[in-house]
Amino acid sequence: MIDKYINKICQGDCLELFKNIPDNSVDMTFADPPFNLKKNYKSYKDSLEFQEYLNWCEQWISEMIRVTKPTGSIFVHNIPKWLTYYATYLNKFAHFKHWISWDAPSAPMGKSLQPAHYGILFYEKKEKKSKIYELRYPHKRDRKQGFLLKDYGGKKDGLHQFGPLISDVWTDIHRIKHNKNRDTHPCQLPIHLLDRLILMTTDENDIVLDPFSGTGTTAISAKRTGRKYIGFELDPFYVQISEEKLNKTLSNYKLGNIWVSFYLQEIVTIRDKDWESLRPFFNIPHPIRTTDYIKTTLKNRKLIPLNKSDTSKLNNCNIKIDNTKIKYIEEVT
Ligand SMILES: C[S@@+](CC[C@H](N)C(=O)[O-])C[C@H]1O[C@@H](n2cnc3c(N)ncnc32)[C@H](O)[C@@H]1O
Repeated sequence: MIDKYINKICQGDCLELFKNIPDNSVDMTFADPPFNLKKNYKSYKDSLEFQEYLNWCEQWISEMIRVTKPTGSIFVHNIPKWLTYYATYLNKFAHFKHWISWDAPSAPMGKSLQPAHYGILFYEKKEKKSKIYELRYPHKRDRKQGFLLKDYGGKKDGLHQFGPLISDVWTDIHRIKHNKNRDTHPCQLPIHLLDRLILMTTDENDIVLDPFSGTGTTAISAKRTGRKYIGFELDPFYVQISEEKLNKTLSNYKLGNIWVSFYLQEIVTIRDKDWESLRPFFNIPHPIRTTDYIKTTLKNRKLIPLNKSDTSKLNNCNIKIDNTKIKYIEEVT
């Protein structure tokens, strides 16, 4: 039954659409629901009463748990306030792995501490049963001089050639802030954020489901990293934008045989276990302590896949893509 929904963005209410998905059939579920912050969605009124919102959230979270395979992972993205309630609910039926703090400052709010992160709750359906791969990201450097930002002191000989293991605080992925870089949608996520979650918890051809698909970020990430996707979205216009973008997305985020995540022609995430196979593609500083000021770079930049979905904005459905002028749009940070 699930085959009918594979690699589709289905238009409708996620609670209705979930009824078509069998128990234990999906490898990873990711939800980025409306945050109840009165955002201006086309079809959804983002302002429910407190308890009404939480009751609704418990319904779709329970569906996410139901459809996820025993080897699968469940992710929910929101502001910390709502995640505290989600966690209380999720703790009853699934197993906590991490609270990922995505350092992505939002507008100044309130009169106490300024919000500077979103949270992504990471649960596994069955304790110690989910697939989890350790990830690495490139060393963070000073933009002008290129020096490592972190002071490794006397430990520079022990640096990893590509970059450090990823922790539960993500500071290297920025929100899409500028309107010119985004679809006609108030809360579009950066695709390489999803690449990271997908590379961490799924394998090629696994199924990724997003019940609040928006303009298709999760589906695009799944497609370009060789996974299958199912998206649900209430708004027909957002579905249309997603389909346009998906038609232009290739399954080509690879170096050799290895799936990786690219952003702005740089690799932003790899699996730790893949480094030995990826190493031949890179110029690596020698001796390793010179990593302090010399970057590990790709030997051949022609290997970087030119994927039209790299541009965050391919919106408004009738857009014409000129293949000769594809640009990588830089997010304003
Ligand atoms: C925060 S946005 C998701 C954005 C998405 N992550 C992206 O990057 O494009 C939430 C989305 O949920 C959709 N939505 C709201 N209620 C829904 C429902 N009951 N079923 C399916 N989608 C719904 C809204 O139209 C909106 O596009």
